[in-house]
Amino acid sequence: MFADDSDSGSGSGAAPLLEFAGVTAGYGSTTVLRNVSIHVQAGEIVALLGPNGAGKTTTLRCASGTLRPSMGRILVDGRDVTKIPPHRRAELGLCLIPEGRGIFRSLTVAENLRLFVPRSSGSPSQALDRALTIFPALQSRLNEVAGRLSGGQQQMLSVARAYVGNAKIIMLDEVSLGLAPLVVDEIYRALATLAETGVAMLLVEQYVSRALHMCDSVVLLRKGDVAYSGPPTNLDEQSFLLDYLGADFEEDPDSHAG
Ligand SMILES: Nc1ncnc2c1ncn2[C@@H]1O[C@H](COP(=O)(O)OP(=O)(O)O)[C@@H](O)[C@H]1O
Ligand SMILES: [Mg+2]
Repeated sequence: MFADDSDSGSGSGAAPLLEFAGVTAGYGSTTVLRNVSIHVQAGEIVALLGPNGAGKTTTLRCASGTLRPSMGRILVDGRDVTKIPPHRRAELGLCLIPEGRGIFRSLTVAENLRLFVPRSSGSPSQALDRALTIFPALQSRLNEVAGRLSGGQQQMLSVARAYVGNAKIIMLDEVSLGLAPLVVDEIYRALATLAETGVAMLLVEQYVSRALHMCDSVVLLRKGDVAYSGPPTNLDEQSFLLDYLGADFEEDPDSHAG
């Protein structure tokens, strides 16, 4: 097993790996997020849910550092990173995988992975081997140009890159977008294995019921406010879905049938 966190404090007392404390942010004079608080612990998978335009991508931008909050703080492993730039946050182990996955499509799978192995972390082939134990589907595609992989394999490659890059916090925008359900299941199995190694994950997911079944904790954004935050087990899926869809209906007056 991978559990080799010799000196990390375990259990509920540990500081979250990623924390939003009362974050307000937006674009120009438009406020998009209002007083958003989120905690992601080591080994935890948190799903960030909400209708289109709710502010999910904006939340990830604040975390990665490409958008500066107007109020509130963002902490990585207890350290205030609110004012530090994206590349320094990446050095602290924060990795954002954007919608579209951000891989180098014209490079091979192996080249994509090797590029992300830090110089300090020893042999690149060992890092690749570690990644392939979590994403065995990539093994037979190592010499394939990444642009020729299926959508699911590209998503796996994007996460495998983060892993070989020693990311401690992986944020994925639109995990399942455009992928077949079986492929998504495979990706979630890999994400769960990755979480067991102590990585913290904040996942933007379109499919509510999948998120409720696969994640340790759920944050529902509605128009930039946190409408629910907590374990999925406390939720009645039906009423949650209604609530979730209800927010969409509010934004679309045409959908109100007489
Ligand atoms: N670069 C931007 N400039 C101005 N407004 C933006 C920008 N990006 C997103 N927005 C607005 O912010 C709100 C939240 O967007 P976003 O975070 O992308 O939502 P989601 O990812 O939940 O669909 C939307 O109203 C969107 O129009
Ligand atoms: Mg988005």
